[in-house]
Amino acid sequence: MTVTIGRDIAHAVAILRRGGLVALPTETVYGLGADARNADAVRRIYAAKGRPADHPLIVHLADATQLADWSAEVTPLAKKLAEKFWPGPLTLILRRAAGVGDFVTGGQDTVGLRVPSHPVAQDLLRAFGGGIAAPSANRFGRVSTTTAEHVAEELGDAVDYVLDGGASDIGIESTIIDVRGDEPVLMRPGHIGVRDIEAAAGAALQAPRVDAPRVSGALAAHYAPATPLLLLEADLLLELAATLSQQGQRVAVLAMSARQPLLDGLHWQAASDEAGAYAHTLYANLRALDAAACAVILVEQPPLRPAWAAVNDRLMRAAAGARPA
Ligand code: TXA
Ligand code: MG
Repeated sequence: MTVTIGRDIAHAVAILRRGGLVALPTETVYGLGADARNADAVRRIYAAKGRPADHPLIVHLADATQLADWSAEVTPLAKKLAEKFWPGPLTLILRRAAGVGDFVTGGQDTVGLRVPSHPVAQDLLRAFGGGIAAPSANRFGRVSTTTAEHVAEELGDAVDYVLDGGASDIGIESTIIDVRGDEPVLMRPGHIGVRDIEAAAGAALQAPRVDAPRVSGALAAHYAPATPLLLLEADLLLELAATLSQQGQRVAVLAMSARQPLLDGLHWQAASDEAGAYAHTLYANLRALDAAACAVILVEQPPLRPAWAAVNDRLMRAAAGARPA
């Protein structure tokens, strides 16, 4: 049985109200949503993803006025960043309010909150009225989804309905900042860069401490295709592709500056040399390269510059998922 894809907000709300799962588009990636106050519904998310139960979920809200329903202490820093970047691709980590379930926070005393800007997500959140708990709509550790079709492929009928909002604009997950103190702490890099966070916060961005709340997207091996993935400089990539092709192996490549060589069994995908455009198609490209049934995916290392921080973070974690055959 395949899942229904559609644009019916009232239908999606009815499913959420009765404890079902709705995949929703956001400007970053698609989310797998459930009523954040309903323990059984949220448990279904973990089952559908195959995600360990102690990993916290982001609660999505229609606007910042709902912050106090979910956080016991909305710090001045939280207010500043919310005002500057919401609605948008920013998740704030705050102390949870009483009544915010362990089933959402993974048993921690913090909660992740985000107000997405995607118009369909906004429509859904407004019509639903409450918080929607939603991790990225992919199986645990795998490549996130950026279209309704990719969600349907990835999760099948483990989800009750997929709300279609077209391809996600940004293409990689939100920036996550712990805002419990006076200084912002970076938990996950994203589209909103370090400089912009610091400018809005009026304070330098800190690295997480060893006792920081857990972020599953920060596991070394994450965002990984099933095919082993190697991150390489262009010269080395071309050399390795040639060697493997001569051995009769099929090789998938995600290139940026490298030009396509004439080789047998080569599945070549060119990507933009601009970070935003590269991020927009990253997960769709990885999905297509994974589906090409090659022995390995070779990804050309993007520049190690701040604009590429979020892309490089996801690629390094995808490469860490690579296992020798
Ligand atoms: O762009 C996004 O953030 C997407 C869209 C759907 O909003 N969501 C997303 O969710 O990427 P997920 O679950 O794949 O990643 C969210 C990250 C996880 O690594 C989780 O551990 C972390 O946020 N997180 C959530 N609540 C947290 C908390 N209370 N403390 C620390 N980390 C938290
Ligand atoms: Mg995820």
